[in-house]
Amino acid sequence: MKILLLGKNGQVGWELQRSLASLGEVLALDRYSTSHCGDLSQPGQLAQTVLNFKPDFIVNAAAHTAVDKAESEPELVKILNTDAPAALAKAAAQVDAWLVHYSTDYVFDGSGNHARQEGEGTGPLSVYGQTKLDGEKAIVASGCKYLIFRTSWVYAALGGNFAKTMLRLAKERETLTVINDQYGAPTGADLIADVTAHAIRRVLNTQNMSFSGVYHLVASGETTWHDYALHVIGKAKAMHPELAWKVSEVTPVPTSAFPTPATRPLNSRLCTTKLQQAFGLVLPPWQQGVDRMLAEIL
Ligand SMILES: NC(=O)c1ccc[n+]([C@@H]2O[C@H](COP(=O)([O-])OP(=O)(O)OC[C@H]3O[C@@H](n4cnc5c(N)ncnc54)[C@H](OP(=O)(O)O)[C@@H]3O)[C@@H](O)[C@H]2O)c1
Repeated sequence: MKILLLGKNGQVGWELQRSLASLGEVLALDRYSTSHCGDLSQPGQLAQTVLNFKPDFIVNAAAHTAVDKAESEPELVKILNTDAPAALAKAAAQVDAWLVHYSTDYVFDGSGNHARQEGEGTGPLSVYGQTKLDGEKAIVASGCKYLIFRTSWVYAALGGNFAKTMLRLAKERETLTVINDQYGAPTGADLIADVTAHAIRRVLNTQNMSFSGVYHLVASGETTWHDYALHVIGKAKAMHPELAWKVSEVTPVPTSAFPTPATRPLNSRLCTTKLQQAFGLVLPPWQQGVDRMLAEIL
């Protein structure tokens, strides 16, 4: 069993290096790899990597993820988020490989207050969201076997994240202001990687092509950035009361209080019933992964 992993050092890619290791031979690349091309900005060479290595599974964890910066460099974002997945999908079809790819709640317009199912109408509000949606469409149209996992609000113990920013600010300021009208589920990169490995194992064991499809993959439950911040700070204070906490108030504000180049969806709730039923999975409450990450970083 051969797996080609792209974006090996991103939040999800790093965790995939761990979770995929026991499945077979993993060729893990980033954009600087020299043995094979792992650079999304070179879709033709990326396809050649697939044709040369002939993997059973391609797992693409690389993407242009700088949502605000994307608004000012749409041509580059299109190459990375649409053209590269399209080239991977075409090559996957040629070598009969499965393509595992990650997408986002940003393909939706964020209206309403229900948890969206996979088949519901899309309506991206940003360059990032539009190019990720176009990437999905290219994969679906390619004829390859694919698993597209749409996720949201990804965090990892490694690197910077929202929780770490809140913890730093909680030691620097008495009052924090945090957005309270965007709803979603913080989802650990480790959970995404573990579910990916589980799904690949299930596909391998059953050889069932009908798994091919789009799935929503987020932790259970929902929150806002404000309530997420309250949870993180409350937990951290309880775990380490001896640290020099300065914050005494976390003020909820609307999204309009923090204007950004890219418009964010207000409703990022994703329904995960399809994924849980198809692969016999239980997705844990978002607090479980966040608390685990806090225990690791504090
Ligand atoms: N982060 C989120 O909140 C979120 C939410 C929903 C969906 N997703 C999706 O989940 C997937 C994984 O995201 P993540 O959170 O792990 O993102 P991430 O930490 O930003 O990782 C993305 C990776 O892509 C790499 N990359 C960027 N340009 C590249 C290029 N030209 N060639 C090769 N690699 C390149 C980056 O490498 P460098 O470090 O060298 O730049 C980075 O390692 C992506 O498809 C993303 O769209 C993420």
